[in-house]
Amino acid sequence: MLNILSLIVRGTREIGFKTLWDSITYLVRKRWYRVRFGGRKCRRVPERGYTCPGRVMSHMRRGQTVTIPCADGTYVLTILAPDLVRVRLLPPHVLAARQLHHSYSIAKSDAQWSPCEFLLTETETALKIETARLVCRIAKDTGRLAFLDLFGDVINEDEAGAGWQACGAVACRKRIQPDEHFYGLGERTFELDLRGRQYRMWNTDPRTYRLGQDPIHLCVPVLLGLHDRGRQGYGIFLDNTFRGLFDLGRRDPDVLSFGAVDGEMRYYFIYGPALTTVLERYTELTGRMNLPPLWMLGYHQSRWSYQPEARVRKLARDFRQVYRVPCDGIHLDIHYMDGYRCFTWDAERFPDPAEKIADLHAMGFKIIVIVDPGIRADHDYRVCREGLERNVFCTYPDGETPFKAPVWPGDCYFPDFTDPRTRMWWGDLCKTLTDVGVDGIWNDMNEPAIFGMRSTTMPQSIRHDMDGHGGGHAEAHNIYGMQMARATVEGLRQLRPDRRPVCITRSGWAGVQRYAMSWTGDNRSNWRHLWLSMPMAMNLGLSGLAHTGPDVGGFSQFASGELFTRWLQMGVFLPFCRAHTFVHSPDQEPWSWGEPYLAINRRYIELRYRLLPYLYTAFWQCAQTGLPIVRPLLLAFQDDAQTHTLEDQFMCGDAFLVAPVFEESADRRSVYLPTGSWYDFWTDQHFHGPAWIDVEAPLERLPLFVRGGSVVPMGPVMQYVGEHPTGRLELHAYPRRASHLPDGRDNVGRSALYEDDGRSWAFQDGEYRLTRFALHSAGHPISRLELGRQVEGRYESGRRGFEVVVHGVDESPRSVTGRTINVHGRMINVRLLGRRALRTDGRTVHLLTSLFEHLQIEWD
Ligand code: GLC
Repeated sequence: MLNILSLIVRGTREIGFKTLWDSITYLVRKRWYRVRFGGRKCRRVPERGYTCPGRVMSHMRRGQTVTIPCADGTYVLTILAPDLVRVRLLPPHVLAARQLHHSYSIAKSDAQWSPCEFLLTETETALKIETARLVCRIAKDTGRLAFLDLFGDVINEDEAGAGWQACGAVACRKRIQPDEHFYGLGERTFELDLRGRQYRMWNTDPRTYRLGQDPIHLCVPVLLGLHDRGRQGYGIFLDNTFRGLFDLGRRDPDVLSFGAVDGEMRYYFIYGPALTTVLERYTELTGRMNLPPLWMLGYHQSRWSYQPEARVRKLARDFRQVYRVPCDGIHLDIHYMDGYRCFTWDAERFPDPAEKIADLHAMGFKIIVIVDPGIRADHDYRVCREGLERNVFCTYPDGETPFKAPVWPGDCYFPDFTDPRTRMWWGDLCKTLTDVGVDGIWNDMNEPAIFGMRSTTMPQSIRHDMDGHGGGHAEAHNIYGMQMARATVEGLRQLRPDRRPVCITRSGWAGVQRYAMSWTGDNRSNWRHLWLSMPMAMNLGLSGLAHTGPDVGGFSQFASGELFTRWLQMGVFLPFCRAHTFVHSPDQEPWSWGEPYLAINRRYIELRYRLLPYLYTAFWQCAQTGLPIVRPLLLAFQDDAQTHTLEDQFMCGDAFLVAPVFEESADRRSVYLPTGSWYDFWTDQHFHGPAWIDVEAPLERLPLFVRGGSVVPMGPVMQYVGEHPTGRLELHAYPRRASHLPDGRDNVGRSALYEDDGRSWAFQDGEYRLTRFALHSAGHPISRLELGRQVEGRYESGRRGFEVVVHGVDESPRSVTGRTINVHGRMINVRLLGRRALRTDGRTVHLLTSLFEHLQIEWD
């Protein structure tokens, strides 16, 4: 009784009496509807006891597809690329010619892949499909598949293999190799290496999650495997949206199994062996992120909720005038709305949103507002009326009764985002927000979450359009959030064709990266969650969704100054850097704990702004190749087994190795530096890897290292993106130490700098500038350094020179020579600019130069 009373008190405090009442009555209504329309079929992903295809009966080849009828089912294998094979298993009652079911995840259709050659051969015991990169062997007696490399070594092979059950469930069992590690699977609350556990595929609102809670908001059914001491890397993408399960050796330590309660057994096998190659293919198949506007890379401040308007104004003034902390985005949570009605403003709290947003724009801020899927069931509310009139809400199986359930506003209807008509309607609704100047939209609660005693969502019987194919929520659930983000982004693109849209989503699925970025939902303000942000961001990146980040400082519970500062130090190297917190928590801004925290927080946020040219280049790389922005070390050092489980340090882009402090009161930590030449970012001390080193890390210091051979572009500190022209760019050169060159390799380090207007799509028409640097070092100690610079693209940055900062050299060079091509196409000598064009401070050499193609710096 006491328990129920305290639930009621807490509930009323958090969600208000009306919503609480709707939530209680919903429990009763739900039962009634279940009786009327039938409940969900309670089914599980089979562990065993499913039917495998068995003996191969025949085979035929047509175009890129090989069809293999077996005793109990038919394989349809399609070779899309030499390293990409789609495997479908159709049970006997399904026609082999059955069309490929529409998939929301796939961005590149079969017809868009150029035909790739392969050889189909038959031996006494097997069929073999051989491409330029792999062999797929199908055993004739069992119908089991094995993927081998061209030397005959196993990349991945079936144990029992794929199969189906009469009730519709599908599964596949494969062997785990002795030293195998697993990564990916979207947003998970575990270590980087996922082996030894089970992971569910069912997007869920956990209402602030614990470590080890599974599943949470955003599942992605792509798994990366790595074994043979890093020599073999591959990916498996299960393209099935029903409730699914991946078991990575929990039930049986040597068996990896995956499956779903319904739908087709359809997976894509992607061979590396480099995991970077796997990611490149996977994101070619499911799409890549669009380049965000540059301001999205700035610092963002949020809380549930900044309100009323005066509070937002104060926040803006605090950033710009009182504390001088750079910031680009202010996020408005649910209280800006009128009674939580989407696409409205609360008339008292925000009487004139257009005017307020214009003022904030004038101060250099961008405004992002939250929009949830639930539309308040209220006939006086235009959006609700319109939705009912147009039939865009999800219904019960009778196709007429709209599904109604409680979220923040109390009872709501839920748009069916799998219907193109709904997406159009929703996209148009975004106009109410863009008209007042809103810059970006934050889609929350889109698992979809529904209030109830336990984490709940729509009943599985609810109908969806599925883009004309029709289906139930059991199939639509996992893609609901992604289709909401799609509707938002398509709307923003229509409304502002010249601007890159911004949509942040909590839920998603394979392919969501084409539409939106994510944040990692409702974490907690404690040290374990700070640590968790690292494996979480890395596994999301390894699942194709690179643009993500945690609520810096933690969402629920209260952050201490130390926790916030340590989290922020890490956060400035994560793709999305936003502080956000719960409705009842105290202020959580960079200055909320006074000194020394404020000064340190400011310094780190300033560092992020100085690194924007570098970070933007990493985003561009990701948009081009799918290579994440935050990367586990194993992506760059796959053959180093030490990196395979390293989860408390990461690479940000090509050059930075970040080793955050994640323990309270810690003032040092150990850091692993893989093979190569490394510099301490703060002191320029040089290290040779591979080595474990012990690093001092007082509160003001984030252990941070730069990889030798890199050129890191840095701009000036700005209070917000575009505050003033970028002016002179610093090029920080970190030469590789000659004594430490990997055998026989050239001592050239290559880096890039990508620039464009940071806002529009003009870069797609050549309005970008890609600069490639080659940093060549010779001698030990370094006696000669050459820095080459090659430019491509039409974008005019307006830059006339650089400040080249050479690290790790303590003496003034004997000579600096260089050449460039002038406007008339003639080769001319580079000038050093100004009287103080060459200076040294005992650790670095600074050169102010005009534009150059090639610089040569020599020491005696
Ligand atoms: C959800 C979101 C959180 C937000 C809150 C109120 O819990 O995850 O970020 O602040 O709803 O909208």
